[in-house]
Amino acid sequence: MARVTLNAGEPGRRDVALLAVLAVLLVGATAWLVYREAVPEYRDHQRQFGNLVQRRLGDAAATAVPAGIQQLWVPGAGRADRCPSCHLATAWRGFERGDEPLRTHPAGMLRAHPTNRFGCTLCHGGQGWAVDRERAHGHVPYWPEPLADASMAASLLPGAGRASLMALNCNACHRYETATAGAEIINRGKRLVDEKGCRACHRINGRGGLIGPDLSWAGDKNPEQYDYGRLSGRRSVFTWHEAHFQDPRALVAETVMPSFHLPPDDIKALALLVMSWRRVGVDASLLGDLPRTDSPSPQERALAAEMERGPGAWFVKTGCYQCHPVSVFGVKSPTPIGPDLSTAMDDVERRFSVPVDTFVKNPSGTMKAVFARQFMLSPAQKDEAVRELRAAYAEFQRQQAVMPAAPARAK
Ligand code: HEC
Ligand code: HEC
Ligand code: HEC
Ligand code: HEC
Ligand code: HEC
Repeated sequence: MARVTLNAGEPGRRDVALLAVLAVLLVGATAWLVYREAVPEYRDHQRQFGNLVQRRLGDAAATAVPAGIQQLWVPGAGRADRCPSCHLATAWRGFERGDEPLRTHPAGMLRAHPTNRFGCTLCHGGQGWAVDRERAHGHVPYWPEPLADASMAASLLPGAGRASLMALNCNACHRYETATAGAEIINRGKRLVDEKGCRACHRINGRGGLIGPDLSWAGDKNPEQYDYGRLSGRRSVFTWHEAHFQDPRALVAETVMPSFHLPPDDIKALALLVMSWRRVGVDASLLGDLPRTDSPSPQERALAAEMERGPGAWFVKTGCYQCHPVSVFGVKSPTPIGPDLSTAMDDVERRFSVPVDTFVKNPSGTMKAVFARQFMLSPAQKDEAVRELRAAYAEFQRQQAVMPAAPARAK
């Protein structure tokens, strides 16, 4: 390593030259800082945009290019977004091929969400009031909502991409819709929640069971509250959810949440959806006519009402049908994660090596959690459960005797 020796009597010529260079650099840097302080970065963009507009659209148009800090006040969210101080072309036509920050905004999004009402950061993230790029884009310590750009996507959601990271922001307002154009990955997650029957065990948007935690605001859970102990590789909330959906037991040994054997894209979609379930500080004016509740579809309700009048009414009213079909009584389950109860009398003996009344009194596996947290049946109600299971099996045997081939034995 070269060393500048200052106490060696007479300084060498090389040392003097080095000091001179350093002094010049120092003065230069100071001058540059002073200049930057006096002439902020957005001025450069504004000058450049003025020139561009003048060249392309003429002098008159150029006078419409704003000067100084530009701010969008978003009353519905109490935010002041100054992004247009640099992103000047957002609302101008004709700069679709420009370089950022001087490019026309993709028009579709802003038609449904005009910037004077929505600002920028509710969709993009970033630190609205800052006017230098680093801080405005939120790539600074402790800013919770950095700009959802490619680099942030790569570090927070490796393998998911920028569009997915933005879709997470969209769902803060669009959470109660079944599908939102432009937020495809979230839509996929919502479909899976219905198809896989997550609500059998989880309350989501105020609806569902209590065996697992309420997920309605799962996105607000602090990253430090997750136990990363059993997670190999990169540790983030996203990778935790990915690993958990892949194999819940690998992360939470005693969980009753099943693995759904989903392909990677489905797993990403569910992880993002869960992370999007956050509270956002927006008032009604920013929610317009968007739905405010997540209610069961009319078909679901009609089916439940019909089954409640049939011979399997007890299983429907008690809630067992949420996870179990009882096919001999025409009871279908919206989320059949448990076996058909038509033949439980027989199956329980084989599967659990105990008679059904012993199983109902003292169950193991998922039913242990169900009876402990979701359906806290009294001893009398448990007797009733056993009677109903017997009745279902009797009906099964009756149907078998009448039509030996059908219905097929419940699996
Ligand atoms: C000081 C000027 C400045 C401010 C203020 C500013 N930006 Fe930018 N922005 C830029 C520049 C320059 C680029 C292009 C280079 C880059 O990507 O960093 C850019 C790029 C972007 C991009 C594209 C990046 C990507 O990879 O997706 C987005 C989106 C963006 N800005 C959004 C915002 C939002 C939202 C705000 C307000 C919170 C904002 N910007 C404030 C200067 C600025
Ligand atoms: C309703 C949500 C929404 C709002 C509000 C919004 N944007 Fe966007 N913005 C998007 C989406 C979505 C894209 C990506 C569109 C695409 O790629 O087709 C985008 C693209 C961009 C890009 C281009 C990024 C790139 O490189 O492709 C920039 C820059 C940008 N927005 C800045 C802004 C600024 C500045 C504001 C506020 C004046 C703003 N946006 C308001 C949703 C929004
Ligand atoms: C048989 C019941 C059951 C089903 C069905 C189920 N879960 Fe779970 N889930 C649980 C239980 C119990 C836990 C708590 C233990 C654990 O973390 O595995 C849990 C935990 C979770 C967690 C972690 C919550 C946290 O903050 O730690 C998420 C996220 C989750 N489930 C999402 C889902 C989704 C999405 C589905 C549907 C695809 C689903 N679950 C289906 C029982 C279930
Ligand atoms: C701050 C809340 C908010 C955010 C964030 C938001 N939206 Fe919206 N969006 C709305 C509202 C409200 C409407 C309905 C317009 C109205 O009622 O005025 C809407 C309308 C829409 C529409 C329907 C347009 C139509 O006319 O059919 C689409 C599609 C849409 N948004 C997609 C998105 C996407 C994609 C994102 C994320 C990039 C997003 N939204 C982010 C609040 C939001
Ligand atoms: C949240 C979902 C869920 C609910 C609600 C539920 N069960 Fe279960 N049940 C299961 C699962 C899953 C199994 C399979 C055993 C296992 O995985 O531990 C099961 C197994 C059973 C069995 C053993 C059946 C067999 O063929 O082995 C019986 C009996 C049973 N449940 C009765 C009930 C009754 C009665 C109710 C209503 C009071 C009910 N269950 C509600 C999920 C549920």
